[in-house]
Amino acid sequence: MRALPEWPWPTVMAHRCGGALAPENTLAGLRVCKAVGCLGVEFDVMLTRDGTAILIHDETLDRTTNGSGELMNFSDTSLWTLDAGSHHHASFEGEPIPRFAQALERCRALDLATNVEIKPAAGYERATGTAVAQLAMQGRDPGAVPPLLSSFSSTALLAAAQAAPQLPRGWLVDTLPEDWKTHCHALDVVSIHTNCAHLTEAQADAIKSSGIRLVVYTENDPQHARLLRSWGVDTFITDRPDLIRI
Ligand code: G3P
Ligand code: MG
Repeated sequence: MRALPEWPWPTVMAHRCGGALAPENTLAGLRVCKAVGCLGVEFDVMLTRDGTAILIHDETLDRTTNGSGELMNFSDTSLWTLDAGSHHHASFEGEPIPRFAQALERCRALDLATNVEIKPAAGYERATGTAVAQLAMQGRDPGAVPPLLSSFSSTALLAAAQAAPQLPRGWLVDTLPEDWKTHCHALDVVSIHTNCAHLTEAQADAIKSSGIRLVVYTENDPQHARLLRSWGVDTFITDRPDLIRI
């Protein structure tokens, strides 16, 4: 199988598309991310009841859209008219929930390194990992940089690995467990994505010495980011891509 180009590990990636500067998980966020000079982006992908992969963080619609209730109670057709922009600011009124395929295409057009967080609704871990990996491979220019897939769900990561073994994968954790090496080996990941608030210098050292890339979320403090950079952190996921400049 032909090797894909190496993932670029941008120093800064905007969290949920545009961080705090735009409604989360929207195409408007991608535009804003690019406009502030950010080279990479992270966003969350979940499946709808009909099996369409969309950008959304919560299993319910209430926090980020003008809809209400469980995502799984909505059919695809009724989702596309929801407003996922007004909750952030009136100037984003009418911003729709994007399909994953649309977001991928926009990232390619904007030349943004793309970290896709597989965010399965409970019980849909395997289906979501498989769907995201398959869609990430569809219509790809073989010479283009692939998306980096990450997840808190081991089941989703293993399903993604089975569906598209050639895509790079990252393992998401809140705090690093003692046996992290065993997990990384079993999941065959290239990176660990950990909470910036819990990372220690000793952990950073051990991860970097093992050859695994180190990504932290959600780093919004420039001074703390500089400290973690000195520990070897490769990539910072941030709500403030306008402030975190390393
Ligand atoms: O991928 C890093 C970060 O996005 C994980 O947390 O809850 O914002 O998806 P969350
Ligand atoms: Mg996320």
